[in-house]
Amino acid sequence: MNDQTFAIIKPDAFKNGYSGKIIDRIINSDFKILGLKLIRMTKSQAEGFYEIHRDKPFFSELTEFMSSGKCMVIALQKEDAVSQWRELIGATNPSEANKGTIRKDFATSLGENAVHGADSDENAAREIGFFFSDIEIIANH
Ligand code: CMP
Repeated sequence: MNDQTFAIIKPDAFKNGYSGKIIDRIINSDFKILGLKLIRMTKSQAEGFYEIHRDKPFFSELTEFMSSGKCMVIALQKEDAVSQWRELIGATNPSEANKGTIRKDFATSLGENAVHGADSDENAAREIGFFFSDIEIIANH
């Protein structure tokens, strides 16, 4: 499972018209897309997805934002996918993200940071399973 990760194009990036550019970067960085769909989360779905952050002071702001508009949820495959995707997107806070990363180029703030990336293989598996059924994931790309 450690060749898969989970990504979200968040409501800010989708609304600002960056989805195509972000998908280009995904493909140009040799990730394979195993599953992709456009969704609009309810507040309670966002709370379920970000359950591990429930006790954080920004939980309400985060789940409000993530349910404020459409998102693209994406299952990705590449060797060492979790860290490769995190490298491509850059630091959580765009002001700390390296030049050329997705967050540096498309994010506006720590809260509205354009994309999400799973932080471990275990969370990648949970997060893919949260949004996709087995039949929606391409098995042998
Ligand atoms: P993400 O990778 O989706 O995982 C959790 C999200 O919480 C993170 O990106 C940020 O967008 C958000 N986040 C983290 N810290 C803060 C904070 N201090 N204030 C608001 N949002 C935050």
